[in-house]
Amino acid sequence: MHVLITGASSGIGEAIASLYLQRGDAVTLVARRKDRLDELAATAPGRAHVIAADLADPERAPGVIEEAEAALGPLDVLVNNAGVQVMGAAHAADWTAGERSLRVNVLSPLRLTTCALPGMVARGRGCVVDIASMAALAPTPGMFFYNASKGALAAASEGLRAELAPHGVHVVTVYPGPVTSEMETAARARFAASATAARVPTGTPEALARLIADAVDRRKPRVIYPRVYALSRLLPGPTRWLVDRFTPPLRD
Ligand SMILES: NC(=O)c1ccc[n+]([C@@H]2O[C@H](COP(=O)([O-])OP(=O)(O)OC[C@H]3O[C@@H](n4cnc5c(N)ncnc54)[C@H](OP(=O)(O)O)[C@@H]3O)[C@@H](O)[C@H]2O)c1
Repeated sequence: MHVLITGASSGIGEAIASLYLQRGDAVTLVARRKDRLDELAATAPGRAHVIAADLADPERAPGVIEEAEAALGPLDVLVNNAGVQVMGAAHAADWTAGERSLRVNVLSPLRLTTCALPGMVARGRGCVVDIASMAALAPTPGMFFYNASKGALAAASEGLRAELAPHGVHVVTVYPGPVTSEMETAARARFAASATAARVPTGTPEALARLIADAVDRRKPRVIYPRVYALSRLLPGPTRWLVDRFTPPLRD
């Protein structure tokens, strides 16, 4: 199986890439920090291909898919994982950073998907995995651009599943809550200290990677992790209240 993972240089993407490499699959690793991708690729000589690309430019997408398939063959799984989190007060927004985050979090995943799909549909098999966020189900105060980007990706992903099913192509939409990573550490530091924030259920990239691989194998529609956050789909009203009531204020 050939799996392409964006944002494979750290956190959740690195954990997904490591898992597939350990399983013996061929893996294309995409991100900007090439040294980190090279280090991971060295663990599986001949089965890993590195592409250093800045996905703030969605026009990189066609070349990324083309190069990956030339190196390791037709793509079986595309994992749209690369993402950035812009936090801060909307009334003091950094528009340049916000607009850039929408290109990384929404436009590049959609462009990569449209580039990968013709081949998958023609072969009658394949899978697209979109790493959205709990921010799509329960948007968080202080994350104006991030909420918009993850809501957009999740909506595109959920709607694509039934469209592609007759073509044999599957879609997995992933909603991580807090999962230890560079992004999660940075996000925590932006909020004022609070007893509730210190106790929120937090997962690990490795456990999430296993759930994602299982969803791909068994064609499950979505992954919500840590699992307790699945309650938010059943109880959207109380979830909204809890998030509004208990999200700590941003630090200056
Ligand atoms: N951790 C959480 O709590 C959490 C919760 C919900 C959703 N998520 C989502 O999970 C995904 C992975 O996040 P993470 O927590 O693992 O964070 P992370 O450790 O900061 O990883 C982010 C990855 O995205 C890549 N990336 C960022 N900007 C890029 C760009 N312009 N071009 C190419 N690659 C870029 C980074 O690689 P380079 O810097 O090397 O380019 C890195 O590999 C993201 O989509 C995030 O929104 C995370």
